[in-house]
Amino acid sequence: MRKKVIAGNWKMNMLPNEAIEYIQAFEPMVKDSKAEIILCVPYIDLFYCLMNAQGTNIKIGAQNMHFEETGAYTGEVSAKMLKSIGVEYVIIGHSERRQYFNETDQTVNKKIKVAFENELKPIVCVGETLEQRENGETEKIITSQTRLALDGLTAEQIKNTIIAYEPIWAIGTGKTATSEDANNSIKAIREELKKLYGENVSEEVIIQYGGSVKSSNAKELFESSDIDGGLVGGASLKPEEFSKIVNYDK
Ligand code: 13P
Repeated sequence: MRKKVIAGNWKMNMLPNEAIEYIQAFEPMVKDSKAEIILCVPYIDLFYCLMNAQGTNIKIGAQNMHFEETGAYTGEVSAKMLKSIGVEYVIIGHSERRQYFNETDQTVNKKIKVAFENELKPIVCVGETLEQRENGETEKIITSQTRLALDGLTAEQIKNTIIAYEPIWAIGTGKTATSEDANNSIKAIREELKKLYGENVSEEVIIQYGGSVKSSNAKELFESSDIDGGLVGGASLKPEEFSKIVNYDK
């Protein structure tokens, strides 16, 4: 049985003092959760969050990284830097980065490899636009993004990759994919993994759903056969609301 992994993506929100207050309020609400809990926070909050989450069941992740280790890349942060302060996870290829910062399937693939070299666990985002969905291309797009993202990884690395299926039209719009649609898309991704790497690998990969997850729809989504948790944006910004999502089974 795969465990549930529920991650918050704060995006460009939360000052350090707000982040500290958040973790102090959130921790007691989720301490008995069976799900694995990750908060993916802005770079500036990472250290404060790591300090405040020490000894708790809350893991801390970054939202991006560069694929080079060091060098003249003004404004960038490397995987090695993230690892050096104790970060465990990193989101790679979020649709907002693909859309606004020219990330491609190729840079996503490079970043995943470098994340593993530095013992960071990647949360890799895939998802179709509304236009692609309306053209009936959802499955083609998400399986191709998955294939290109994971190209050249070992079976062990693939088993340790978290994939987040985030239909772009559902992000920040209040429109959630139905649990049936989300489950079917995730099944298609798992089927692709099975074709490429075998059932032994595909059955272990955690595949989350993301896109307007809230406490009112989390249970139905997360109890679907293939949805192994969620990547939550807006609803992860309030500790009470996010704790209800994490505790969806209570
Ligand atoms: P929302 O939950 O705000 O729709 O954002 C989803 C997302 O992009 C998480 O990475």
